[in-house]
Amino acid sequence: MHLDGKKILLGVTGSIAAYKAAHLTRLLVKEGAEVQIIMSTSALDFITPLTLATLSKGPVHHQFADSATGVWTNHVELGMWADLFLVAPISANTLAKFAQGICDNLLTATYLSAKCPVMVAPAMDLDMYLHPAVKENLQRLADFGNIILEAESGELASGLNGQGRLMEPEHILEHVTQFFQESQTFRGKKILITSGPTQEAIDPVRFISNHSSGKMGAAIAEAFASKGADVTVILGQGAKKPHHTGIKIHTVRSAQEMYEVTQIHHHQADICVFAAAVADYTPKDIATEKIKKSDDQMQITLVKNVDIAFALGKKKKQGQIHVGFALETENEVFHAKSKLEKKNFDLIVLNSMRDQGAGFQYDTNKVSIFFKNGKSLTTDTLHKDEVAKLIVDCVKDLPIEI
Ligand code: CTP
Repeated sequence: MHLDGKKILLGVTGSIAAYKAAHLTRLLVKEGAEVQIIMSTSALDFITPLTLATLSKGPVHHQFADSATGVWTNHVELGMWADLFLVAPISANTLAKFAQGICDNLLTATYLSAKCPVMVAPAMDLDMYLHPAVKENLQRLADFGNIILEAESGELASGLNGQGRLMEPEHILEHVTQFFQESQTFRGKKILITSGPTQEAIDPVRFISNHSSGKMGAAIAEAFASKGADVTVILGQGAKKPHHTGIKIHTVRSAQEMYEVTQIHHHQADICVFAAAVADYTPKDIATEKIKKSDDQMQITLVKNVDIAFALGKKKKQGQIHVGFALETENEVFHAKSKLEKKNFDLIVLNSMRDQGAGFQYDTNKVSIFFKNGKSLTTDTLHKDEVAKLIVDCVKDLPIEI
């Protein structure tokens, strides 16, 4: 059985699709999962707790406290108990509450305190599903690191036809099974990631930096963490923080500081991803006081910074994998391939500033990946999360056979 011993907390909300939660519960239990159920207050109008309790062979919770017995349901414990919190169906209403942190029933309180991964399967009418508010809320949940099981298309309860149907329970089961399989891929592996820009101080109030947002590094950190890896991120100031609770983050400022902290973690890392946009040069001297405006021109002497990827590439141990990035504006492939060689990378991810929607600040990226053995692949313009998953898959498949 695919879900043997897995603890699944199933949330059910007020939607006509709530009846499908009964079938879903049966499928999960049949695959060996231990299931506890939380219903929102309005879910009670659509399906009875007795049905779900019978099928799950476990308790069904729907209130903070049972007024008859005085027993309090501990929502924190429920979240701690679960390996996965699956909310199917999630109504537009509960979705909005999750997105805003509203905590007015046991289900929403459990969501806020849950430390386990959360998967939501929306169900609503066509026009509701298309509404920008719903789309924004779904995106918000995805940004929190929750997994969204997109609604399927077909006939809806209103009689309309289109996207909005709860994903079929069999398909939800496939996603749940795949989730648990994938969460083992990098179990026990240590991943070290540099991410974001560095800041090179000129004086106490000014610095030299670049436009790196850290979005790509954060997406890679998330992708590894979701596959069970032990991830450490060395993060430049102001860069996007990955949200997965297991990821360790060390915030640094300058290239030198990033090097020192990265070096400490390098020897025990199995896989290192150098996604940071490290300043190549730094002011030779940092003024101790704010530099005052004087002449029409001023000069700052810059000296070369340490090249973190190059320095650690020299110390690379047998079996250790190094992944590099190259952001280029011209002669892209040539520069990327020479960095692959020079910095002892196993693979390098090339972004070209000439591609629309690629590079700094964007949520999307279009990359080419070059491997040490000469093979390569090029993506379309994809969301950075998709690019991150692809990079992680490439690392998993090393040495690559394309
Ligand atoms: N890198 C690094 N430390 C540096 C400079 C770059 O670790 N001081 C890493 C980046 O994180 C990236 C790779 O090296 O993985 C290539 O970075 P890039 O800035 O494209 O290359 P540079 O070697 O700095 O070359 P140039 O700026 O001349 O293109």
